[in-house]
Amino acid sequence: MDYITIALPKGKLFKRSVELLEKVGYTAENLSEDSRKLVISNDETKVRFIITKTVDLPTYVEYGAADIGIIGKDVLLEEQKDVYELLDLKYGKCRLMLAVPEAMQKPKITDYAHLRVATKYPNCAKEYFDNLGIQMEIIKLNGSIELGPLIGLSELIVDIVETGTTLKENKLLEVDSIYTATARLIANRVSFKLKFERLHKLVEDLRRVMQEEGK
Ligand code: PRP
Repeated sequence: MDYITIALPKGKLFKRSVELLEKVGYTAENLSEDSRKLVISNDETKVRFIITKTVDLPTYVEYGAADIGIIGKDVLLEEQKDVYELLDLKYGKCRLMLAVPEAMQKPKITDYAHLRVATKYPNCAKEYFDNLGIQMEIIKLNGSIELGPLIGLSELIVDIVETGTTLKENKLLEVDSIYTATARLIANRVSFKLKFERLHKLVEDLRRVMQEEGK
C-alpha cells in the first residue's frame, strides 16, 4: 500500500486538524506543530504528515508533494492553486474584513478610494475593490497587518478577523465583510484518482465524525 501524505498548516488550524484526523485513524507519534522533524510518518498505517507554513500548503498539494492537506478557504481564494476541494470541515471560521482606524471612518466605502490598504491578501483585496469600481494602493505584508494604520504605512487594512479582539485592541472598525472562510480538505488532482479508494473513505469517515459531533 502506498503512503498517503497529508500536509498540515502551522497555526490556528493545526490542533483541531490533528484531533479530527486522529478520530478517523490518521495519526502519528509526536505529531506536533513545534516538532523539529518536518516529516512525521506512521509506517503501520502508511500515513506521512508534513507540517508547512499556511501560505505554502496549497503549493505542496498542487505539485503532489502532499496528496491532501487542510487549509483555510481564505488561503485557497488568495493563492488560486489547482487543487480539488474535497470537504468543508467547518472549523476555523473567520471573515476577511476591510477595516479602518476609528478616527478615519467615512460614510461610504467609495469615499476611501485611492487610499493605501495593507493586507496579506492582495489578490482578494484587489478583486473586492475592482468589483466596487474603486482603485486603491494595495501594500502586501506578511503579518501583523494591524500595524499598518497605526504607524501610517496605510490608511486601511484588509485582514482576517476571528474573534475581533485584534481589531478592538488596535482601535480599528470593521467597514465591510468581504467573505467568510472555514477549513477545507483539499487534494492533489492526480493523487485523488490514483489513491481514490483510501481518500474517498477518508472523506466519508470525516463526514461521519462531523455529523456525530453535530457539525
Ligand atoms: C490573524 C489576523 C489577525 C488576527 C485576528 O493573524 O491577521 O491579526 O489573526 O484574530 P482575532 O480577530 O481573533 O483577534 P495571525 O494570528 O494569523 O497572525 P499574523 O497577523 O502574524 O498573520
